[in-house]
Amino acid sequence: MKIRFADSRPAGDYALVLPVPGKDRSTLASLGASQSSVVAALDRARFEGEAASSSEQFIDDDGSVRRLIVVGTGVGTAPLDAAEKLGGTVASKLQTSGEKTAVIDLTGLGYDADAAARVALGAALRSWRYDRYRTKLKDNQKPTLGEIVIVGGGAGAAKRYEQRWVPVVEGVSLTRELVTEPANIIYPESFVERVKASVKGSGLDLEVLDRAAMEKLGMGALLGVAQGSVREGRLLILKWNGGGKGQPTAFVGKGVTFDTGGISIKPAAGMEMMKWDMGGAGAVVGAMKALALRKAKASIVGICGLVENMPGGNAQRPGDVVTTMSGQTVEVINTDAEGRLVLADAVTYVQRNYKPGTIIDLATLTGAILISLGHEWAGLFSNNDELAGKLQSAGEESGDKLWRMPLAEPFDRLIDSPIADMKNVGPREGGSITAAQFIQRFVENGVKWAHIDMAGKAWSDKASATYEKGATGYGVRLLDQYVADVLER
Ligand code: BES
Ligand code: MN
Ligand code: ZN
Repeated sequence: MKIRFADSRPAGDYALVLPVPGKDRSTLASLGASQSSVVAALDRARFEGEAASSSEQFIDDDGSVRRLIVVGTGVGTAPLDAAEKLGGTVASKLQTSGEKTAVIDLTGLGYDADAAARVALGAALRSWRYDRYRTKLKDNQKPTLGEIVIVGGGAGAAKRYEQRWVPVVEGVSLTRELVTEPANIIYPESFVERVKASVKGSGLDLEVLDRAAMEKLGMGALLGVAQGSVREGRLLILKWNGGGKGQPTAFVGKGVTFDTGGISIKPAAGMEMMKWDMGGAGAVVGAMKALALRKAKASIVGICGLVENMPGGNAQRPGDVVTTMSGQTVEVINTDAEGRLVLADAVTYVQRNYKPGTIIDLATLTGAILISLGHEWAGLFSNNDELAGKLQSAGEESGDKLWRMPLAEPFDRLIDSPIADMKNVGPREGGSITAAQFIQRFVENGVKWAHIDMAGKAWSDKASATYEKGATGYGVRLLDQYVADVLER
């Protein structure tokens, strides 16, 4: 999607988009002679101008037919939120409409450059789609909208969009692509290759550990999960050094490219969804790409633990005891609780090699978090109130929302094992919490740590203002906003 900013409406053929704040109709004044019939039509359609609502009609514009979309920006809706929804609504309404160009005229809305840039962000995010495997799309199902012109955004809107948001769109798009691809295409090795190609020239430093390298380091937990698959595991490390003082911040992602459950195999119904069990790793690489492209003034390392969890002749068994890189041992009660095993070694690796002051891990870790929070919030666990607060603020600002969950010693006790230092599952109750407690056992003293259980957020069965059904790109904007708010000031 090409997005540009202009001072006035261009000449020629395009769909015109006019935003209206609630029931206020004043921004329609530019319609001139058509205004009264347009307003009458809106009233007939009981259009109330709520954010993300829209009404379409065709008007006579100097003898030719023009499509007009009136989009609400609401009254109570936070302005930047409404701006994003406006852009997203335009993209979703017009993407396959037959229109090639849309002109969004913000005149009279009172938007500043920041808000105008967010209109562009919403439109760009909502335009993303992945048609690689659709060879039989009918002509009228194919996207037509190629350009959006935003009028009346004021000076600085274009620059703001290019510098602050285009990198984020690039990052979110990479994440969505990785999450969307099936597991016969994206497995640990090909995940690495896809990321390499995508971040080429961004200034990110890449390092990859293969099985032999991880064996040497004693990463028995990650390798134990990987051993059932013919696809070898990988550890992918992305480094961004944009300056900033003090210790680096680490992002760690769960990258299970497919989770069958292993020998503790999952039921068949819905198992195809487990192609997106690498959503945490996807978010980490998307965020790293965004931060590099916008040259964030911070020093960050992103680590992805990449494995495929399969049953097989060499798969690990329930009851196996593995030794993690930290030296701690784990009794693997359930091979389907694999994400925490992968994260344990990834977290140890990053602490040994990069001495981060803060670690934020993201993982589609438990079905239990869906039971707790549904699909609206991801779960946040942290050993540090300040870090938790800052992440929650970044969540509110970016729309990638977080709800804080507890950690406490009585939960920790539930994963003690009679044969090893710990077992990889607790009881059914509080399943997301015991999973978090497990990861916490690998966090070294003095390190601030937050764990984000995003099992309900990587994929959506319904469209929103900024994404179509499918991969959401959750986590990229959260991490990007956290860096902007906390590390870059
Ligand atoms: N990848 C799953 C969690 C998941 C479930 C993500 C549903 C998205 C949707 C994870 O590896 C898993 O299987 N967790 C188990 C843990 C249990 C065995 C303790 C679960 O949640 O059932
Ligand atoms: Mn699992
Ligand atoms: Zn999993």
